[in-house]
Amino acid sequence: MMVDTTSQNATATSQNTRKGEGLILNNVTVQYRTAGVTSTALHGINMSVHPGEVVGLVGESGCGKSTTAKAICGLVPVTDGEVRYEGVAVDPLGFRKRPKTLQRIQMVFQNPYASLNPRRKIKAQLEDARAINEGTAPSVDELLDLVELPRESANLYPRQFSGGQRQRIAIARAMATGPSLLIGDEPIASLDASLQSKVAMLMKKVTRESGAAMLFISHDLSVVRLIVDRLYVMHEGRIVEEGETEEVWNHPKNRYTQRLLASIPIPDGSGTLPTVLE
Ligand SMILES: Nc1ncnc2c1ncn2[C@@H]1O[C@H](COP(=O)(O)OP(=O)(O)OP(=O)(O)O)[C@@H](O)[C@H]1O
Ligand SMILES: [Mg+2]
Repeated sequence: MMVDTTSQNATATSQNTRKGEGLILNNVTVQYRTAGVTSTALHGINMSVHPGEVVGLVGESGCGKSTTAKAICGLVPVTDGEVRYEGVAVDPLGFRKRPKTLQRIQMVFQNPYASLNPRRKIKAQLEDARAINEGTAPSVDELLDLVELPRESANLYPRQFSGGQRQRIAIARAMATGPSLLIGDEPIASLDASLQSKVAMLMKKVTRESGAAMLFISHDLSVVRLIVDRLYVMHEGRIVEEGETEEVWNHPKNRYTQRLLASIPIPDGSGTLPTVLE
């Protein structure tokens, strides 16, 4: 396995840190093979998410964001390089039980309709997730409080909720497992514009309150900007820019980032901020 020793990511190349190093992607390449044709979705990317950090990954459709999320969770095999979480290498998901450390990575997907079981009440689904957590899992009531849903929601089925409420349930379920790293792959993309920033802010709140870290993936820089400490910009399977959120927002160095910012439709160049910020 090739490891890029010239990586600019100091943490990724440090041999001394293990526990406490968080998530590290070291020179990760992912290729897909479809009908005998190989295509490269990720070209040797370097990323890190430190414990307690809220990090964004942005880029246009097809640039490789979901592939990155899947590589982190072991849902697609890495062709070259490595993904490590707290010093444990992430291998493709198989039939074997995952190491405890890797069970602490949880994902919230774009489509809450597909990720919740339509035939089970919310309480049962949250209880299942709590069972994974051998520590002190929050109660179902506490989880519903956390995502600002009424406690009575526990006795209902997913179909009895709106899209935004369903996504809150999906977030509660992820938090029930006591994650130390939450991966949100476009978790707000299926929601109405008025709800997007609300749910994004909620995800940040629950992440911070639980002391976890989050990688928040979106094509919408204006919402991402509201919640992340640090940001990666991806273009055609490569990280083209990385930095503190405000720095990237105000002084983008890469031409693609500049284009991405310019495409936010406000003529004064300062970009749009969602109207609902509470
Ligand atoms: N299972 C697959 N087999 C073959 N190619 C794939 C597969 N999944 C993704 N790809 C390709 O890999 C590239 C990256 O896709 P990916 O889903 O990671 O992009 P994305 O940034 O998440 O896009 P979006 O914003 O639309 O969700 C695309 O060119 C896509 O067509
Ligand atoms: Mg995607």
